[in-house]
Amino acid sequence: MIQVSDNLFLLETEHSAYQMKVNERGMLEHLWYGARVDQNMDYLNLHNDLGFSGQIYEDQADRTLSPDTLMLEYPTEGIGDYRITAAKVEGALGLDLRYAGYEISTGEFNLDGLPHVRGELEQLTIHLKDEVLNLQVDLHYLVDEKHDAIIRWATFRNKANRSYRLDRSFGMALDFPVSEDVELISFPGRHNKERIMTRQPLAQNVVCFGSKRGTSSHQHNPSLIVCDSLTTENYGDAYGFLMVYSGSFKIEVEKDQTGQTRVLCGISPDMTRWTLDAHASFETPQTILFYSSQGLGKLSRNSHDLLRERILPKNDYHPILINTWEAVMFDFNREKLLEMADHAAKLDVDLYVMDDGWFGDRNSDLAGLGDWIPNKTKLGGSLNSLIEEINARGMDFGLWIEPEMINENSDLYRAHPEWVLQAPNRKPLISRGQMVLDLCNPEVVDYLEDVFTHLLSSGNIRYVKWDMNRSLGDVYSPSLPVEKQEEVCHRYILGVYDLLGRLTGKFSNILFEGCSGGGGRFDAGMLFYTPQIWCSDDTDVHERSKIQYGTSFFYPAVSMGAHVSEVPNQQTGRWASLEARAAMAMAGTYGYELDPGEMSEEEKAEIRALNKQFRSIQDLIVEGDVYRLSSPKNEQVIFQFMDKAKDRLVLLGIVYETRPSTMRRKIRLQSLPEQAVYETQDGVIYSARALMHGGLLLSQTCGTDAPVHIELKRIR
Ligand code: DGJ
Repeated sequence: MIQVSDNLFLLETEHSAYQMKVNERGMLEHLWYGARVDQNMDYLNLHNDLGFSGQIYEDQADRTLSPDTLMLEYPTEGIGDYRITAAKVEGALGLDLRYAGYEISTGEFNLDGLPHVRGELEQLTIHLKDEVLNLQVDLHYLVDEKHDAIIRWATFRNKANRSYRLDRSFGMALDFPVSEDVELISFPGRHNKERIMTRQPLAQNVVCFGSKRGTSSHQHNPSLIVCDSLTTENYGDAYGFLMVYSGSFKIEVEKDQTGQTRVLCGISPDMTRWTLDAHASFETPQTILFYSSQGLGKLSRNSHDLLRERILPKNDYHPILINTWEAVMFDFNREKLLEMADHAAKLDVDLYVMDDGWFGDRNSDLAGLGDWIPNKTKLGGSLNSLIEEINARGMDFGLWIEPEMINENSDLYRAHPEWVLQAPNRKPLISRGQMVLDLCNPEVVDYLEDVFTHLLSSGNIRYVKWDMNRSLGDVYSPSLPVEKQEEVCHRYILGVYDLLGRLTGKFSNILFEGCSGGGGRFDAGMLFYTPQIWCSDDTDVHERSKIQYGTSFFYPAVSMGAHVSEVPNQQTGRWASLEARAAMAMAGTYGYELDPGEMSEEEKAEIRALNKQFRSIQDLIVEGDVYRLSSPKNEQVIFQFMDKAKDRLVLLGIVYETRPSTMRRKIRLQSLPEQAVYETQDGVIYSARALMHGGLLLSQTCGTDAPVHIELKRIR
């Protein structure tokens, strides 16, 4: 709901309220974001006279109205606000934004070339204008009542006859009132160890993180939670910020001299400075804001529901797949592929995915990218004939591609060396033996669309893994003039979105899975096109428990590519039982990443049983609610997945270490209806109150990383 009265703007969702006001000088002040309060929260907004905080010219007599201490809805550079700012125009030009009107509308709002929250919603747009520069900034707010979310972004509109360079152009700024107790939860990591939940107190300081890599990156995720030290899974205030963006981003947080906190989310100003031509406009990516008064768990569930309903493309295809990568890497031929397929067919999987190595001269990572022509020698015939053989074995067929990349040793590079991002007169930066195609160049995007349209039409392909295996380095586009080079990072991701949009639009029968060396581009922007993303190249169950735990704070399990792989694990050398590996992979999309020919008949039978078990609970993973019952800090990661009616649930996870000579561990369940009674798959009956307050005893564990897989159904 959106209400406007007497210069006061009020946005309300089911459990949250957001207030702003236009002050006597036309500045848009932020008043409140948090629980619904039924009152104007302006009283919290103390205007103090602080030394060395300037006044605006008209208010020299009143030293309390200082841009440096006000809670501002969209703080800008050059007006005497010395904190971090959302927008800056060409060095010292200043940007003094004053209120210039508003509009309320309802509908579906498509952003120009950017992924976005789908579906019909109510929108408030507030126009702010700098009369001197003749530059307008529109602040957009979509209100998603059901998910307690406000979606924000900004549009810059240049009304002048000259161009302006935007040195900073964040889509979202949020000021919090004074608090001594602010904590930040973010999800840093690295390749093979993405999105590790990290919590830190905020002192008077600026904390910032982001990516300069052209992708959202393994190292940082475009998301943040602000809470206080008392906030837990089920208690306390939590504010979530989730960017719908996959390129170089930045999140900045500052606790100022007075104890107020400011959060900014946007395109990285270190990598992108957009030149806004005369009379042109520029739209920023969206950031989704979530508020929960019931701790982190509720915030996550709201985010999962919103992403499933409004970000992920519609998809009813949830196959159990087997992927060839860890089994054979580049080293295969038709015989090996079919031998694996024969074994895979006996495992009762739905989809057989041929990973990297099937095209051009691709026998290592040093050649072939760009030449998307099936290697008939290696495949022992045409791609289509291979697909038919796989289909004949009762499995769908899936294919790996990496459209954004090119090897120097490829026919495409020999034909079009100018299609690569590369600084003039320098040697290109190589990573994993490859270079990055210039997706700022529409000719390249058109070419790739043609090539992949042809490829994906050439047989019965049900799934595509869209990989991206390096960071951008020499971010220079030969297709753009010098003055546009600081736009390349953002233009690149716009090109990726464009290509993804065209191909996913044409091939709506194909399930696209995103990937970037595992989880290097795991974000809500990619999820707009690819409903699932390979979570990490690290398939070790112990490491995966931390990765999937961190990922679960914003992203639903149905979006997390997770597979059982061989032991000892290829990344860590660790051993874990098949049940343990399955228990963690089932908390995601579920599949296998191993050579089925290496398995004993007993293991194959076990896998068939596991697949049957997974299919019986898959709906809980795909559409259910998730509760994090414990965390890596407790040396166990256990998720509770439950249907919305709270009739069926499954606990999935692992216990890290067995404690010798002690009692069995117990785990307390969450959010069951007080009067309900449940029965486990072994026929043991418990009351909901016993399960929630006493807890369920876990089996005596043995060794390390012991599996937890307990199913319960409501019987009363
Ligand atoms: C990186 C991916 O994360 C792997 O799963 C695999 O597809 C390789 N690329 C193939 O090159």
